[in-house]
Amino acid sequence: MYPIETIRKDFPILEEQVHGKSLIYLDNGATTQKPQVMIDALVQYYSSYNSNVHRGVHHLSQKATDAFEEARRTVQKFIGAEKEQEVIFTSGTTDGINIISTIFGASKVQKGDRIFVAESEHHSNIVPWQWVCEQKEAELISIPFTKEGLDIDFFEKEAKKGIKLVAIAAISNSLGVVNPIEKIIKIAKENGAYTLIDAAQSVAHQKIDVQKMDCDFMVFSGHKLYGPTGVGVLYGKFDLLNELPPYRGGGEMIAIVTMEQSTYACLPHKLEAGTPNIADVIALKTSIDYLEKIGLDTIAEYEHELVQYAYQELEKIEGIEIYGSKKNRSGAISFNHKDIHAYDIGTLLDQMGIAVRTGNHCAQPMMKCLGISGTVRATFALYNTKEEVNILVKSLKRALMMLL
Ligand code: ALA
Repeated sequence: MYPIETIRKDFPILEEQVHGKSLIYLDNGATTQKPQVMIDALVQYYSSYNSNVHRGVHHLSQKATDAFEEARRTVQKFIGAEKEQEVIFTSGTTDGINIISTIFGASKVQKGDRIFVAESEHHSNIVPWQWVCEQKEAELISIPFTKEGLDIDFFEKEAKKGIKLVAIAAISNSLGVVNPIEKIIKIAKENGAYTLIDAAQSVAHQKIDVQKMDCDFMVFSGHKLYGPTGVGVLYGKFDLLNELPPYRGGGEMIAIVTMEQSTYACLPHKLEAGTPNIADVIALKTSIDYLEKIGLDTIAEYEHELVQYAYQELEKIEGIEIYGSKKNRSGAISFNHKDIHAYDIGTLLDQMGIAVRTGNHCAQPMMKCLGISGTVRATFALYNTKEEVNILVKSLKRALMMLL
């Protein structure tokens, strides 16, 4: 039996009232709420062992360093990486993609190379690659999105003509459509290409195994995994990361510095210049431990049922169109009413205590492909319930009656 009551008690914010109503938080795709253990870990770090890492011989610095490196090993196991040095702490998904696009772009991309991203990508997995292509006179190719999902036949055909890298989300942030990343990685490998997986929207919903996936790079944000904002993870295969140049110059990433030149530290430090986000890295570990105690597979099964139920109930409402297929979906439902603007629906739902996201979800090409300016997006997490879905449906019907 899924321990929903216990889980809900672990998240203090779920007790909050919004506009005099009990909060129903369905904006988990933007950021998830935080369990008390994670909040406690932050307070504990700052109140009892706040200190810089890798720098001091004193007790507090050693303690902070141990906790920081323990967090790296926790992430390593969580994503199935072979080595802990393959785990680089970043400020989030956007940071991770920008690090790779910059250093991979600088050292591996040449004039005429072809880089593939999907039409459904978040802007953070489009703009950095546009820059690389502009700088290197490379070509950015968009994998079209169709009613059935990504056009894999197009990708397979085009990849044969040449491909340097494909950068793709495991789950689209705007619609919650699950992309066939195993197939995409296989096609990329067959054609000698590198792969980057944006796991921002999948990391809290599906078990990740980077070795099994055989991707070259993978990125995600801590705050979408019930951890703090401002911390994220970049995974890269050891030999590849080792080969790439550093990203930022500064303390901690060097071996020897003279006034003439510098040599660099080993991984992971080569890619972690400056004082890292110590508190948030340590706190992220507690969120991962928390999730692993419940079990990612257990969470995935519970959420799948919840999202399918929400889909089934929402599609019954006259005038509502849900985007993306019912089947290959995880964590999100994006919809519109044929006669009402998404923003108006979102505003009325907020008045009823329900938090959803409205707008283009940082995915303008996806919206253009669907021929719309935005959607109402409800995104689910391990603490949401069927009762909350029922309230969403009832509230949406009320909002539509007020607006029509
Ligand atoms: N990328 C986050 C979202 O999709 C902010 O809402």
